[in-house]
Amino acid sequence: MKAITIPTPGDADALILSEVPTPEIAADEVLVQVAAAGVNRADLMQRQGFYPPPRGSSTYPGLEVSGTISALGSDVNGWEVGDRVCALLSGGGYAEQVAVPAMQLLPVPNGVSLVEAAALPEATSTVWSNLFMTANLQPGQTVLIHGGSSGIGTMAIQLAHAIGARVAVTAGTAYKLEACRALGAEILVNYHEQDFVEVLENATQGRGADVILDNIGAKYLARNVSALAVNGRLVIIGLQGGVKAELNINALLRKSAAVIATSLRGRPAAEKAAIVAAVREHVWPLIESGTVKPVVHGTFPLAQAADAHRELEASTHIGKILLTT
Ligand SMILES: NC(=O)c1ccc[n+]([C@@H]2O[C@H](COP(=O)([O-])OP(=O)(O)OC[C@H]3O[C@@H](n4cnc5c(N)ncnc54)[C@H](OP(=O)(O)O)[C@@H]3O)[C@@H](O)[C@H]2O)c1
Repeated sequence: MKAITIPTPGDADALILSEVPTPEIAADEVLVQVAAAGVNRADLMQRQGFYPPPRGSSTYPGLEVSGTISALGSDVNGWEVGDRVCALLSGGGYAEQVAVPAMQLLPVPNGVSLVEAAALPEATSTVWSNLFMTANLQPGQTVLIHGGSSGIGTMAIQLAHAIGARVAVTAGTAYKLEACRALGAEILVNYHEQDFVEVLENATQGRGADVILDNIGAKYLARNVSALAVNGRLVIIGLQGGVKAELNINALLRKSAAVIATSLRGRPAAEKAAIVAAVREHVWPLIESGTVKPVVHGTFPLAQAADAHRELEASTHIGKILLTT
């Protein structure tokens, strides 16, 4: 089969379409004939050599796919050859076939095409696990989502809005902020022109955000803590603005607030399985009713993975970029 390999880490041209062996499946895995793979920011870091796959994972990039089951491991129950699925992976999605732990499979939701379904596993699992399982976001609370137009952001806005939270977002252009508004965001902050702490304070009568989903890390730490409400929860999932910053613990203490950082890819299989099960129970009905939709910016053939990476790096996209086989 063909897969994207990274013989030498580097810029987008480091992604090479190569002939590789078909993956072997373990007893608890299925083989998926890939229709499409999601492109994630983490793939850019892996390509550059900064984010090696966890031990035992495929060395090819790709954290999510959609496709059709073509073979079953001997211990797999509840799935059949021919089932249309999407899946959360630790790697290996940029390929024609991939081995997937059965506990990380989801059916393609009714109303979503096989290709579009590749936009769902990573974003729904990241958002559901962080906003709801970890930060316990409640109806009526205010959530600030940084990078609202990103693959993660577009899903976070829709899910938070669907449960009745008030959604604030940051983005870098008015065009992106309008897209966030259309998905359910109410408080819009252009981070080039406005201070999100000030905007949040004005929009919430000084209360601040109950939950912040942050992709920036160090550069935003102090201002994120300032923007938190009493009992607020800051969940850091990305480090686009660096890894080291000073934390004013007194500011946190006065608000009884929490700072949490998580990574989906590195979680043990049992935790991933619990997250995928929760997504199927809580998120899939919202997708099947049309309340929440995959937001797909564009697709590229697998052979043009380098162009897909360049597009993500240019950051002119809204939602997800996919690779099709
Ligand atoms: N920890 C986890 O488990 C996990 C899982 C999945 C994703 N993530 C993280 O989640 C983030 C989004 O991932 P993705 O794949 O959806 O990436 P993406 O679509 O490439 O999004 C990156 C976003 O960052 C925004 N951004 C850049 N500078 C910003 C700033 N100063 N303030 C606010 N936003 C800014 C960009 O918006 P503009 O173009 O408007 O600047 C863009 O929307 C990434 O940091 C990724 O590493 C973490």
